[in-house]
Amino acid sequence: MNSSELQSVINDMVIRGKGILAADESTRTITKRFESIHVESTEENRRDYRSMMFHAPDLSNSISGVILFEETLTQKDQDNVSLAEVLAKQNIVPGIKVDKGLVPLHPVGSEKLTQGLDGLAERLATYKEQGARFAKWRAVLNISDTLPTPLAITANAEVLAYYAATCQAQGFVPIVEPEILMDGNHSIDRCEAVTLETLHQVFTALHKHHVLLEYIILKPSMVTAGKECSEQASVEEVAERTVKTLRRTVPAAVPSINFLSGGQSPELATAHLNTMNNIATTLPWHLSFSYGRALQEPCLKAWEGNAANTNAAQKALLKRAELNSAACTGEYNSMMEDKSA
Ligand code: 13P
Repeated sequence: MNSSELQSVINDMVIRGKGILAADESTRTITKRFESIHVESTEENRRDYRSMMFHAPDLSNSISGVILFEETLTQKDQDNVSLAEVLAKQNIVPGIKVDKGLVPLHPVGSEKLTQGLDGLAERLATYKEQGARFAKWRAVLNISDTLPTPLAITANAEVLAYYAATCQAQGFVPIVEPEILMDGNHSIDRCEAVTLETLHQVFTALHKHHVLLEYIILKPSMVTAGKECSEQASVEEVAERTVKTLRRTVPAAVPSINFLSGGQSPELATAHLNTMNNIATTLPWHLSFSYGRALQEPCLKAWEGNAANTNAAQKALLKRAELNSAACTGEYNSMMEDKSA
């Protein structure tokens, strides 16, 4: 393992006031997003959309890394420059989603295990030649009265840890993403208990696999009530419980925690992050963002698959990126939502 290579990736990515843009939707997921704006999901449209985002002027003021889907890593812009290079030229680190999606964990039941470990080291070597310097792997857990099972938590933690160790051996900083879905009517108490147990198991597995915590980025979900729960917690309660759970589980060696948005509205995802950074001034790690939908939703709507809307779409992306940048230092307030519309 080359720790100076890993440290330089961390130095380029973990910067106060900056976060990560998750633009690594699988073809199936981006097709769903495009359906919502009535745009066909062709390879060309996917390239045009992502190229438009990556060319947004001054994106690097608030974004230090972008997670790409494999297809994007080999695509080029109108000037024949690879999209990874478009980012690197702006000092934005290109990263790559390396998992291959979800398979059933057992023959019966609904729980899932993330696949993609086969040939991972070889794939990483190719991705490195194509310009990627960090990787992402998403594990998914569901909450119900009986889920997640202990097996789902430990199996996903082991796979995440094996992935992270493989990445570091290849000079890639791994984003470790154990997502606990917001689907369901569970209480915030239940989400807190599941998040606590999951993060304990993830860090136990990372330790067993000799992963160096200085060179990972944790990408967790926030502690919230389920989407269908009749009692939704306030922004302050979500922020307090999330920070409390992270303090209890995430070692101080981890440089940065970059949240996923998980279906929260763009405004709420920003408000939660801001409040966490306000209430907790003495944290050992950065608290930042690695949002997909919460950064892209307004941009996608403004774009509509039409090149004539490029300026409006880039402006919408920059607005969310800048507001989340402010949230990283606790300097966001909701009045800022109207100003830069
Ligand atoms: P969301 O912010 O839309 O949840 O996406 C983040 C992500 O990368 C999920 O893997």
